[in-house]
Amino acid sequence: MTAHNMKLKLKIWRQKNKNAQGNMTDYHLEGVSPDMSFLEMIDLLNENLVKSGEDVVSFDHDCREGICGMCSMMINGEAHGPEKSTTTCQLHMRKFKDGDTIVIEPWRAKAFPVLKDLTVDRSAFDQIMSAGGYVTVNTGAACDANSILVSKVDADLAMDAAQCIGCGACVASCKNASAMLFVSAKVSQYSLLPQGKVEAPKRVQNMVAKMDQLGFGNCTNEAECEASCPKDITIENIARMNRDHLKAKLFSRPEIE
Ligand code: FES
Repeated sequence: MTAHNMKLKLKIWRQKNKNAQGNMTDYHLEGVSPDMSFLEMIDLLNENLVKSGEDVVSFDHDCREGICGMCSMMINGEAHGPEKSTTTCQLHMRKFKDGDTIVIEPWRAKAFPVLKDLTVDRSAFDQIMSAGGYVTVNTGAACDANSILVSKVDADLAMDAAQCIGCGACVASCKNASAMLFVSAKVSQYSLLPQGKVEAPKRVQNMVAKMDQLGFGNCTNEAECEASCPKDITIENIARMNRDHLKAKLFSRPEIE
């Protein structure tokens, strides 16, 4: 059975540059296959805009397979759209109906300024990673896997945290524009494993300090971040980060750079 192509009304945030005032603009799009991804649907719109000599809609994307975290956009008020555990690039148009109106906006947060249309500057996340999201201790050459024992529980929790793709949906969905889900996932993926524990107190303090400095808000347990995360990162990570941060403040030596 061939699925019928759809006609859609799109309301898209258009903004020429960082300093320009943006506005919602309406587009009518025909010939949308239910098998297209959401980004392919915007590609189709952009092909039409090119043909009519108009400026294409700017949006971020890279892998288009749910890995890079670039395809940040609010779709009908939800980060990455209506499908749970799904990035925008993996969302299919079959989730929408013929004749639907779809509202598409960029992430909105002070720390993620809009550069153009749907593209925002997420380099604040890179700055947080630079503040501590790595292991600097010499872990030596690859050794036998059994020589450093890691419990299955810790290994699973670390791998779950490492699923974070840094897309920023947590920030965009939070009424406080808090980055704590992202930061706590990054802190956890290292601190749960032996190699990451050595620098854990310094790491958590530096990353949290950078997050605060960049203008992200605080967590007030709304849990919108968890609901919108395409990689199912849980707010347990935030609780773990808060405990680690408190312990680090109380017990570590004052050697923070
Ligand atoms: S484009 Fe890479 S996660 Fe969507």
